[in-house]
Amino acid sequence: MNALDFLDKNNIPQHVSIIMDGNGRWAKKRGNPRIFGHKNGVKAVRETVEAAGETGVKYLTLYAFSTENWNRPKAEVDALMSLLVNSIENETENLIKNKVRLQTIGCRESLPDNVNRKLDAIIANTSNGTGLTLILALSYSSKFEIIEAVKKIANKVAAGNLSEEQIDEKLISDYLQTASFPDPDLMIRTSGEYRLSNFLLWQSAYSELYFTPVLWPDFRKHDFFEAILDYQKRERRFGKTGDQIETK
Ligand code: IPE
Ligand code: IPE
Ligand code: MG
Repeated sequence: MNALDFLDKNNIPQHVSIIMDGNGRWAKKRGNPRIFGHKNGVKAVRETVEAAGETGVKYLTLYAFSTENWNRPKAEVDALMSLLVNSIENETENLIKNKVRLQTIGCRESLPDNVNRKLDAIIANTSNGTGLTLILALSYSSKFEIIEAVKKIANKVAAGNLSEEQIDEKLISDYLQTASFPDPDLMIRTSGEYRLSNFLLWQSAYSELYFTPVLWPDFRKHDFFEAILDYQKRERRFGKTGDQIETK
């Protein structure tokens, strides 16, 4: 029996987000340069996308590159961008076959032109995917996303097209890059770090958090299933009491 068989099919998180961390340490442990870890992280991405599809997760957001990651040495950033282009080329067919629809969040303008061209192509080529929506967070910063939303809202108010009373949770959510996706039910971070690193801060207000010491290149389907199993043991209370949830 595999871990997938233990999952409650009626309690699958609709949206899972993952902070894929630990590539550098994985490579270092093997006496290799950091990029070796990034390269080996691609298999983990493939397995995770497949595992998400198998469990019936509808949205999977992967934190692939943060705004802060631009501050890494140029050679590492360049290597990550090349890896992204190669991975898109290699994975497109498989994604289409698995009915995956690819989307992105983040500051696309800061990415190199060749990366943007590949992204536009894969987004167009997978747009009919009816299965999993795979959202890549690229050059993403949650604080920046919130700042941009606030600016747009402020402009509308200043122009008289929106009143202060209309500003509520729903409106702010609608101005974020994630407007068309539900909030993550489960957020996973690998590599034993316990922080959010500027990822989906607004959207994760009520996400269940799952931290694992597994380094990203070692992450496999069974690790994903284990995270979902852990999620299914939890009681999501959203501020209510346990009794209120049980008698619902
Ligand atoms: C995550 O692995 C990948 C990216 C941030 C692009 P890291 O490169 O952060 O690996 P560690 O955390 O240094 O081990
Ligand atoms: C977070 O990992 C960003 C991604 C996984 C893309 P980092 O390795 O950049 O995060 P910090 O700097 O350790 O918090
Ligand atoms: Mg890291």
